[in-house]
Amino acid sequence: MIKKKLFSEAPIEIGPESGYDNYIMAIESSCDETACAIVKNGREVIANVVASQIKTHAQFGGVIPEIAAREHMDSINIVVEEAFRQAKENAGINPEDITAFAGTVGPGLVGCLLVGLNAAKTLALVYDKPFIGVNHLNAHLCGNYLDTDLKPPFMALLVSGGHTQIIDVKSYSEQHIIGETIDDAVGEAYDKVARLIGLPYPGGPKLDKMAQEGNPHAFKLPEAKVGEFDFSFSGLKTAVLRLVKSFDGQELPVKDICASFQECVSSTLVKKVKKALEQSGYDQVVIAGGVAANSEIRKKIFDLSEEGYKVFAPPMKYCTDNAAMVASCAYFNTNTFDDINVEVFSRVK
Ligand code: KG4
Ligand code: ZN
Repeated sequence: MIKKKLFSEAPIEIGPESGYDNYIMAIESSCDETACAIVKNGREVIANVVASQIKTHAQFGGVIPEIAAREHMDSINIVVEEAFRQAKENAGINPEDITAFAGTVGPGLVGCLLVGLNAAKTLALVYDKPFIGVNHLNAHLCGNYLDTDLKPPFMALLVSGGHTQIIDVKSYSEQHIIGETIDDAVGEAYDKVARLIGLPYPGGPKLDKMAQEGNPHAFKLPEAKVGEFDFSFSGLKTAVLRLVKSFDGQELPVKDICASFQECVSSTLVKKVKKALEQSGYDQVVIAGGVAANSEIRKKIFDLSEEGYKVFAPPMKYCTDNAAMVASCAYFNTNTFDDINVEVFSRVK
């Protein structure tokens, strides 16, 4: 076991209050992207590298955890070296200039998380710098700080393959979940429905593309909502299954099914976000997570700007898994450094 406790030996300040420039190197490996980035003061990306495993997993129709972990092992050194190279080229920053090293601790696939986290811890030990463990979901929210001047408070819609939450972000370090899914996450629903109608992996983006050519009012599907701010997507998924079966082997109107499903999901999500905004009195709203790349959800969220809200949505490269958002989160969301023995976790605690 590693005995060194970095925080006690390195009483170095980090974050917006520290009063000097922070350069955080972060590693992300919670699912099927091996990523490394270096971010200055939580907002300025000076290196950003992502090695995607999509092609590998496409052969199997989904992410195979053991294969994903092995691919992370193959890619991790390459992405770290490339991030150091970019930082040198873009900003003249050397490894010794890094203020702290960060890694995603969860939620995610345990075998995958272990690869990235151990690399981040090793770098912290080698360069004798503090280590920060980052929650993947908080990191997605912080993707909105990259290249912007966004400051809390704001309302956030976090939509990914594993989560669907409306979050009240009161300050950089204080946030409250005010609504969430009681069953499938929205990305999971996209992927499952895509599979049902015969679209290849990764289903979500493919379904989105098809939907853009279909009629969103072709089929009436049940709204995916429960209670005031919670969601449920399993009934909607079953409704699509019934619809598919009703065609009894005839050719499916795939584009219209996609468009109707997308309309149903996006309108439910955005309606609830709007209600949460109204209740909070905030004038800023952000969208985060892999599904924030969805064209219709983005459009409907951006339409809120016509009602006077300031809308933030990360560019596509910061919506899907990346390490720049992890570095930003380490900067803004950190109250303390972590013990080097911090462990990974698979689910939201
Ligand atoms: O945040 P992310 O990269 O990984 C998780 O932390 O889950 O999100 C991945 C999810 C997948 O379910 C994928 O199908 C979905 O985001 N996704 C989309 C789109 N792009 C990615 N879903 C709908 N429309 C898209 N354009
Ligand atoms: Zn993610």
